Amino acid sequence: MENTYALVTGATSGIGLEISRNLAKRGYNLILVSRTTEKLDQISKKLIQNFNIKCDYFSSDLTLIESPDEIYQFTSQKKYNVNILVNNAGYALPNAFHENSMEDEERCLRVLGTSVIALTKKYINDMISNGGGKIMIVSSVAAFAPASSLQSLYGPVKTFMNRFSESLSFYNKYGITSTAVCPGYTVTNFHTASGVQKEMDSVPGFLKKSAKRIAEEGVDAMLKGKKVSVPTKTWKIIVFLLKVIPNSVFSLISGLLAPGRYNDV
Ligand SMILES: NC(=O)c1ccc[n+]([C@@H]2O[C@H](COP(=O)([O-])OP(=O)(O)OC[C@H]3O[C@@H](n4cnc5c(N)ncnc54)[C@H](OP(=O)(O)O)[C@@H]3O)[C@@H](O)[C@H]2O)c1
Repeated sequence: MENTYALVTGATSGIGLEISRNLAKRGYNLILVSRTTEKLDQISKKLIQNFNIKCDYFSSDLTLIESPDEIYQFTSQKKYNVNILVNNAGYALPNAFHENSMEDEERCLRVLGTSVIALTKKYINDMISNGGGKIMIVSSVAAFAPASSLQSLYGPVKTFMNRFSESLSFYNKYGITSTAVCPGYTVTNFHTASGVQKEMDSVPGFLKKSAKRIAEEGVDAMLKGKKVSVPTKTWKIIVFLLKVIPNSVFSLISGLLAPGRYNDV
């Protein structure tokens, strides 16, 4: 269909930027969303130039409750048909649970959780009418891991997103698939933006993967309509171990490899 686009949130950095590049390389037109207009403008110009695709952008802060509606209005007014929705934007709060204000928790949960649901709710109706679509939710290995004292709500909201993505499989009969992409440690701006760069620096190199690799495997999985994708062999093995090793043993090993996550508050 003409005027068909993939919409990517958090497209200005890290995994979202690489997903956008990957989709552009495969010839998909793009709508990029994040807060920073200047970066969106630069990136969209580069993608148009390098990959000869159509690319537009919309600056939006997903901590705000009205943002998903505004994004949908923008694409409707422009008559863009969004048949791929990539819910990727995200960050985590740096402090212990008791130190974060409720407002900060709510803002973060909106970006990682309710905005994903709201955007999916908006676009899924168009996907049903248009005979299909693909949804990706960038989740995390944290969805499968034991509770951590750092970023208390991050793991739980990612588990919620995996379950939400799974529940969308009931739309398969409309040609709609949803893929939860669950990366492990990925080298992006996430840890600086979330105030845990020091903890990330202490993680051994073999556990850290490039955003490009995550994007390649994630986009492949989404296009194949897989329900869950854990990119890279290393992290597939770790997720397997998470299912067979007791949480207490996993926390102990993980605490030795990546200190800070399982310390008392
Ligand atoms: N890095 C990891 O180790 C890792 C591991 C597992 C899962 N993940 C997940 O991967 C996703 C992408 O993270 P990343 O690692 O690529 O981080 P990143 O490099 O910090 O990129 C985050 C993206 O989200 C956008 N963003 C942040 N807050 C936003 C807001 N309020 N409204 C709209 N856009 C916002 C940022 O753009 P602006 O600042 O311009 O708004 C940026 O484009 C997240 O959902 C994260 O939970 C990351």
